[in-house]
Amino acid sequence: MTIRTAVVPQAEILDLRWRVLRPGHPRAAAEFAEDARRDTFHLAAYEGDDPAVLGCVTLFPDPLPGEDETAHRFRGMASAPAVRGRGYGAALLAAATGEAAARGARVLWCNGRAEALGFYLRQGFTVVGEEFVIEGVGPHRVLARRVGPPVPAPPPVSAAPGR
Ligand SMILES: CC(C)(COP(=O)(O)OP(=O)(O)OC[C@H]1O[C@@H](n2cnc3c(N)ncnc32)[C@H](O)[C@@H]1OP(=O)(O)O)[C@@H](O)C(=O)NCCC(=O)NCCS
Repeated sequence: MTIRTAVVPQAEILDLRWRVLRPGHPRAAAEFAEDARRDTFHLAAYEGDDPAVLGCVTLFPDPLPGEDETAHRFRGMASAPAVRGRGYGAALLAAATGEAAARGARVLWCNGRAEALGFYLRQGFTVVGEEFVIEGVGPHRVLARRVGPPVPAPPPVSAAPGR
């Protein structure tokens, strides 16, 4: 079954974000200050036409500390436990990259949880700087990946002159 991603309102992804990233906390703990920004967008992932949200991520413009390039940061990256390892996280990052690039980003970055480090490295992210601890959540690393400009289609190969 194909994974479908879509830009959706925050209300669509909040339950999954809450369940996966803030379990045992009040629902309000899953709200981010950035949710209120007009330039923030949220992506949801679904299995085909099924309306159940199986993955989510939230992005907004934010420079990578120490870098001048236009960047988007993402937060709230999660996939439902039942579908882990089936490509939902990768599909969300691919969609996030395309959407952020279309909005002018040249860099994509996040404060990634230590336990998700392998996932981000597999997706081409690079660790930036030292490990740090976010109170109540645990150890994190900054992870960043360059968002290339759209690759132009190669010119059509002309047929060799038949002689
Ligand atoms: C991290 C998370 C989003 C990954 O989502 P996912 O849907 O399982 O990711 P995918 O199935 O697309 O995985 C892509 C690849 O990364 C690997 N991978 C996934 N999670 C990994 C991890 N924690 N460590 C190492 N590799 C991992 C997968 O095995 C897969 O490998 P493959 O390319 O060889 O098939 C998901 O595990 C999750 O929601 N975790 C809990 C919340 C969390 O930590 N979020 C990140 C906060 S920074």
